[in-house]
Amino acid sequence: MKIGVDYYPEQWDRSFWEQDAALMAQTGVKVVRIGEFAWSKLEPKEGVFDFEWLDNAISVLQRFGMEIVIGVPTNCPPLWLYESHPEIVQTGADGKQIQTGIRGHRCVNSPVFMNYAKRIATQLVLRYANHPSVVAWQIDNELEASQCCCDECKARFRNWLLDKYGSLEEINAAFGTSVWSGEYSSITQIQPPNAYPKAWQNPALCLDWFRFTSESTTAFVKEIALTMRREAPKIKLTANTSVSENTPDLYKLFDEVDFVSFDNYPPAEIPKDTEEFYSHAFFLDMMRGVKGKSFWVMEQLSGPTGSWSPMSRTPKPGMIMGYSLQALAHGADTVVHFRWRTARTGAEMYWHGLIDHSNVPGRRFFEFAELCKTASKLSVIDTTELVSDVAILYSPENRFALRLQQQSEGFDYLEQLRYFHAAFSRYGANIDVVSPDSDLSNYKVVIAPSMYVYKKSSAENIYRYVINGGTLVMTNRSGVKDSNNNCIMEPLPTVYRELIGAEITEYDPVGKNEQTITDFAGNKFVCSKWCDILRVTTAKAYAEYNDNFYRCCPAVTMNRYCSGVVYYVGTICKMDFYESFAGNIMRQTGMPRLKGLPKGVEVTTRTNGLDDYIFFFNNSEENATITLPKPMYSIIDSTGKDKLELKPFEMEIVRK
Ligand code: GAL
Repeated sequence: MKIGVDYYPEQWDRSFWEQDAALMAQTGVKVVRIGEFAWSKLEPKEGVFDFEWLDNAISVLQRFGMEIVIGVPTNCPPLWLYESHPEIVQTGADGKQIQTGIRGHRCVNSPVFMNYAKRIATQLVLRYANHPSVVAWQIDNELEASQCCCDECKARFRNWLLDKYGSLEEINAAFGTSVWSGEYSSITQIQPPNAYPKAWQNPALCLDWFRFTSESTTAFVKEIALTMRREAPKIKLTANTSVSENTPDLYKLFDEVDFVSFDNYPPAEIPKDTEEFYSHAFFLDMMRGVKGKSFWVMEQLSGPTGSWSPMSRTPKPGMIMGYSLQALAHGADTVVHFRWRTARTGAEMYWHGLIDHSNVPGRRFFEFAELCKTASKLSVIDTTELVSDVAILYSPENRFALRLQQQSEGFDYLEQLRYFHAAFSRYGANIDVVSPDSDLSNYKVVIAPSMYVYKKSSAENIYRYVINGGTLVMTNRSGVKDSNNNCIMEPLPTVYRELIGAEITEYDPVGKNEQTITDFAGNKFVCSKWCDILRVTTAKAYAEYNDNFYRCCPAVTMNRYCSGVVYYVGTICKMDFYESFAGNIMRQTGMPRLKGLPKGVEVTTRTNGLDDYIFFFNNSEENATITLPKPMYSIIDSTGKDKLELKPFEMEIVRK
């Protein structure tokens, strides 16, 4: 495992560089990311490049043994470029260009911008691709599905629709525009749905806009990647991401690069409400699932966050170390901390790095130094990977469509995924969060929450998995929409009816009202948000409702289909249900279960085929004691142990 830092030499006087690099080396830092916002320093005037400072910074870092990731600075075109080519500035829904002055203003669809972006990318690879210390390249920064509404984007969107549907008539038919006199009689009447809250607009238009904007960003990455690889075919490329409002389809975005990078900012405050999710383990598993292999954290929590929001709590003792090791436990093999120094100027001066404004290394820095020491003892993990019996299907389109039209008060697509994730985690299972189109054949259990928008390949994949003997869990709001995001006129869950062996006769979007269900063993659980009222055909009831006019109707069902088993959870419960349900499924499918793990303790296993390494992470504010089934060897402190005493946020790694 390698630990790194994000560093901005362009923001510091040169007198800092040498002492910073020396301290990095002394601390045990191995990787440094630089440059992703430094375009104006690299090309201070049109076509005039200045690499002297970067040569210098790189050579200082090289002298101290750092591996370097260069960020291609396309997120931040210099102001002279916006001035000479105002057409590259993004346009808002009101038709006005946005005011420059922060970052990310560029329109990724602008051909003029693309040329400049390719030129700076080319210049950088020509100069540094063969540099022995440059190990990887990051394209842009936290690319989003751009919401630009400039003429270029509009024209491209309209052409994209024409390519997809063939004609305006077909677009009208696909969108069902007879509602609200929305029929298009000319292609130019089609507007990006950004002027009003999206929920007021045509859902088919909105989903296609999401697809188009996501593809535009992916196409930008592809073009830059091709340009760079043309000059330097062997470079390793990445892009960094977080999960935010306009996150593009990650599966497509990362198709164009070699590895996934995640910006990991777990909350520094543990919520009092025990139902509130705070573990970032889910997102880490999601990142590993994008390419089905290990990934990097390109930005890792290092201090209080804030600037555009009030500052968050400072990471508690143990979190700087613990949350980095948690990322390792879920498949990150390099964790780069954001940032070495806290910015002294600029909008981000309160998004703290490892060294504070005081310039005096403090508590967080010393914990980071400990982390670097610990990481240096973990090389045995480098060749290991996570092998999972459980998969949770994550669909960017379903997430978008369910956010667009919230199904009931409190209904949240990701929350359902996270409930299942947390439940299987309670028993120490490795969990992959993967695309509904990925190969499912090796999983013992697949959870497919809210398969809302129909996609033929995914539905076929799911059926195939069950036919071949898999155990599948589906939930409410599946089979609701066709691929245009219009409702399917069949009893729910439409295409999945046969699979679940039941149909929904009616549903009750109960929102925040709480009711209860009772399972086959007499256990009672609270449910809310959504209630599907089911009528079984070949399925059996696993749990029934206790309230309302649908008392005694099935809420959760179990069906045998070909050689497989399919569960359907028609409602949304609290954690106790998912824990009990996951426990039953693991027992049914013969998966090993760790029982009695203290609350907040997360267990994952990495293997190299010969040895298994078990990670015990105490993601809580209480001390935790775990008795091991047999003595095991700790690779953290090189001793044998049969009992683990974990302080808050402490990680232990033992060889099984
Ligand atoms: C990330 C971004 C960084 C920095 C950080 C803290 O989203 O990639 O450049 O802004 O947040 O604000």
